[in-house]
Amino acid sequence: MLIERIDHVGYAVEDLEEAIAHHQRLYGAEVVHREHVEADEVDEALLAVGESFIQLLMPTSERSPVARFLARRGPGLHHVGYGVADVAATVDRLREQGAKLVDERPRRGSRGCTVAFVHPASAMGVLVELVEDPQRRGGIERSTGGVPGF
Ligand code: CO
Repeated sequence: MLIERIDHVGYAVEDLEEAIAHHQRLYGAEVVHREHVEADEVDEALLAVGESFIQLLMPTSERSPVARFLARRGPGLHHVGYGVADVAATVDRLREQGAKLVDERPRRGSRGCTVAFVHPASAMGVLVELVEDPQRRGGIERSTGGVPGF
């Protein structure tokens, strides 16, 4: 099985601070990472959920794919991140199997990860993001708190 874990679930939100406050109020959530991702024109916050994350995404431009999603469908589940050991090899395999890819080549994602999106047409109607996290390479456990590179 190439999918090693559910790395994260990504939510499209209209107000990042409110979305963070909501998760803090209801669940005592902890923000472990924040980043502006210029390639996707979003501000991101990651909430720790065991070894996985809830990824809150707020567009910073109307051109952002997340802005288009919000305009079309409103706030909600945007994508699921599958943790894999090697995004490039996984993309090659999916292409061989005839899967429709959003990203033909792996690209840089947030927190230093390598990512590629798989089109919902080839993923049970769900937008899937393949995520290779260099901090997990070789089975190294993510340390808790003050994680280098975060
Ligand atoms: Co994501």
